[in-house]
Amino acid sequence: MSTPPSDTLFADDAAARRVEALYRTPDIVAQRAAIRAALALAPGERVLDVGCGPGLLCAEMAQTVGITGAVVGVDTADSMLRIAGRNRNGLGQLSILPGEATALPADDGAFDAVVCIQVLEYVPDVAAALAEFRRVLRPGGRLLLVDTDWASCVWASADDARMRRIVAAWDAHCPHPQLPRTLPTLLTAAGYDVVHVEALPLLSVRRSENTYCEGMTDVIARFVVRSGAISPEEAAAWRDDLARREAEGTTFFSLSRFMFIARCEGGGR
Ligand SMILES: C[S@@+](CC[C@H](N)C(=O)[O-])C[C@H]1O[C@@H](n2cnc3c(N)ncnc32)[C@H](O)[C@@H]1O
Repeated sequence: MSTPPSDTLFADDAAARRVEALYRTPDIVAQRAAIRAALALAPGERVLDVGCGPGLLCAEMAQTVGITGAVVGVDTADSMLRIAGRNRNGLGQLSILPGEATALPADDGAFDAVVCIQVLEYVPDVAAALAEFRRVLRPGGRLLLVDTDWASCVWASADDARMRRIVAAWDAHCPHPQLPRTLPTLLTAAGYDVVHVEALPLLSVRRSENTYCEGMTDVIARFVVRSGAISPEEAAAWRDDLARREAEGTTFFSLSRFMFIARCEGGGR
């Protein structure tokens, strides 16, 4: 059986720690703040975080909903569940469970809100996941999605042809590298009302230490070499070029994630 591409990104503990480090950069901390502001949770609400990864958003949301509310984080990767468990910080209102986006361990109508951040692009059957989110949302509940469109990537390089080859090879890391442009249609077909859409840019210019861009350079280089699409020598030359730009202060990286908030009136069943 072939290995799903995302397994090489999240399955082992070292890879999960790299994702956690990436998600602790100021770029992603700021995006989580924007997500929490848009979600506008109130004390006492029940929230499900599907594909919770290192659980950083779970812990933040648990502080907001307080002990009268509940946050449940689910993920398919044991490595991520271990990290999310450590990041739980003893919060009694936060549970971390194994769970698959298309078969959630939750009752019908159990949640006021479902969030799914940078996960649907890894789920082969997106329509099945949206139906499952609707099943576990109460009538009138809200769904917040964030996904990346990798075609929005602008990344300065001394060798643009090589850069394009590397970003194209990276597209194989998930089944839907350009998912956001299809989400309004998929959400409507699944019975949701899309009430808010927003671009969340990630931008690094000049010096870019401890940024999403810097962390992703490492993640992408490992993936494209392991997939066999790019030789180790070419990936090393790419990284050297980016390091030189960093030293010169000529880094330019821009990538857009897109946030969707949708409501469902009827529940899924
Ligand atoms: C890019 S990380 C995002 C983590 C987290 N949502 C965040 O934004 O910090 C993607 C996560 O989705 C998980 N994942 C991938 N496919 C999944 C699925 N079908 N069901 C549940 N989780 C999944 C991965 O194990 C990984 O932890």
